[in-house]
Amino acid sequence: MKRPTKLKKILIIDFGSQFTQLIARRIRELGVFSEIVSHKNLKNIDQNELFGLILSGGPLNVYQNKKIKLNKNIFTFDCPILGICFGHQMISKFYGGHVKSSKTREFGLAKIKKTKNSILTNNFFDKKNLNNVWMSHADHVTKIPKNFKKIASTKDSKYTIIENSKLKRFGVQFHPEVTHTMKGMILLKNFVFKICKAKKNWSSKHQKNNLIKKAKNQIGKDKVICALSGGVDSSVVAQLLNKSVGKQLKCIFVNTGLLRKNEEKQVVNTFKKKLKIDLIYVNAEKLFLSKLRNVEDPEKKRKIIGNLFIKIFEKYAKKIKNVKFLAQGTLYPDLIESKSVTGSQTSKIKSHHNVGGLPKKMKLKLVEPLRLLFKDEVRKLGLELKLSKQIISRHPFPGPGLAIRMPGQITKEKIKILKEADHYFINELKKENLYNKIWQAYAALLPVKTVGVMGDNRTYDYICLLRAITSSDGMTADYFDFSKKFMQNVSNKIINNIKGINRVVYDVTSKPPSTIELE
Ligand code: XMP
Repeated sequence: MKRPTKLKKILIIDFGSQFTQLIARRIRELGVFSEIVSHKNLKNIDQNELFGLILSGGPLNVYQNKKIKLNKNIFTFDCPILGICFGHQMISKFYGGHVKSSKTREFGLAKIKKTKNSILTNNFFDKKNLNNVWMSHADHVTKIPKNFKKIASTKDSKYTIIENSKLKRFGVQFHPEVTHTMKGMILLKNFVFKICKAKKNWSSKHQKNNLIKKAKNQIGKDKVICALSGGVDSSVVAQLLNKSVGKQLKCIFVNTGLLRKNEEKQVVNTFKKKLKIDLIYVNAEKLFLSKLRNVEDPEKKRKIIGNLFIKIFEKYAKKIKNVKFLAQGTLYPDLIESKSVTGSQTSKIKSHHNVGGLPKKMKLKLVEPLRLLFKDEVRKLGLELKLSKQIISRHPFPGPGLAIRMPGQITKEKIKILKEADHYFINELKKENLYNKIWQAYAALLPVKTVGVMGDNRTYDYICLLRAITSSDGMTADYFDFSKKFMQNVSNKIINNIKGINRVVYDVTSKPPSTIELE
């Protein structure tokens, strides 16, 4: 089997900065492939695959030799290297400069002044040779290496931009990847195209053709199964494999009874009827409801749903003969956050539900065509694959579905009320053109009844909680600021139309300290 040639890239060596993913996204936005690798994991880097290297920021100190596992060989590479924040200090130290801890942290916006011309800063400064950059550091470079030039400084850090153009080594103390740094993209663009001389090789169209080919190569003539949820990621995976291996793809869609209103109809209609994908529809509403009866503990709910899902999926998958592969919508951030890529581990807050347990049990090999993509790239790819905007722009929806938006016991009556409330809320967001400005929004049903008055009658009904957040990746989030008029309108619509709710509240907590879902 012919191995597809590897894409040339800008490689980012991660030292644990919270902005590392952002650097990769920015490079990709410029149309050039970019990947992240941990400084602890630098064994097999092939120079020929690199346009250039970027050393990220991070919480370490350049003199913590035991903690920094960076293979110094990279400094012998012929390709250009850009150090950002901690990376800037690493370059300075490696080539013989000095780095010192300072008592004053430089944090937030800083005025930077140009002292020399550099290709890196072409069009970066204004007419007065100034710019605003975003800083986040305590240590700083106090002496630059021999043969390096100072390009710019701020009040608190003398060597804010340095370079050795002959060696093609550059360092910036600030973060060009964050939007607070004005014209940060121009600086990165200069590095990528003018210094690394990178060629554009990353677009949705390019990815589409590449991924279709790659999946075909991997799957060959075997069969592949895919758990379709109706969400963006699994929809894009299914359509990509549909284009790649056609009838060798079998999708299984389990209706847990905990989906959004009419979701099962939409999934069957889109994938079975419109896209002609071979789809097995399993209605397991009753089974899920019976297994969840009287269960209140959030983790128990999640475990029951996850296990049941796998059991059902397995049962139907076994009926399909000669299956060798399981397709999953794993994304790049999932890989970066897992130990295997960065060497860091995130603590478990909630046990997320997916079909991860299956491949081992069923001896299936994984097909993960989206494993190098960020969410926004998956959305663009979906459009390129001609999936409808309605599917592509859908807010994320958790595997355990409405079960974790209904603290306490799960009953048929509560599910019915919640589906309606969510439907009204989402419809109003769409009507007011707010849906696409919000990362995720939903209604939840609290397990508390309160007294109300409707007409002249006393009511004693549930509280509906609305949550709407802005976020870039779901890791952190802020609540969306609605107008009073909008809130009043939604609240009226929900209470007037849904029997069982007499009070609506809005969740104004961010993440952290709260999580996005209630359970
Ligand atoms: P939390 O509540 O952890 O949610 O702040 C972060 C994002 O993850 C989604 N979520 C899940 N997605 N399976 C999923 O596929 C799950 O079990 C799950 N739990 C939470 C949540 O909707 C939000 O977008």
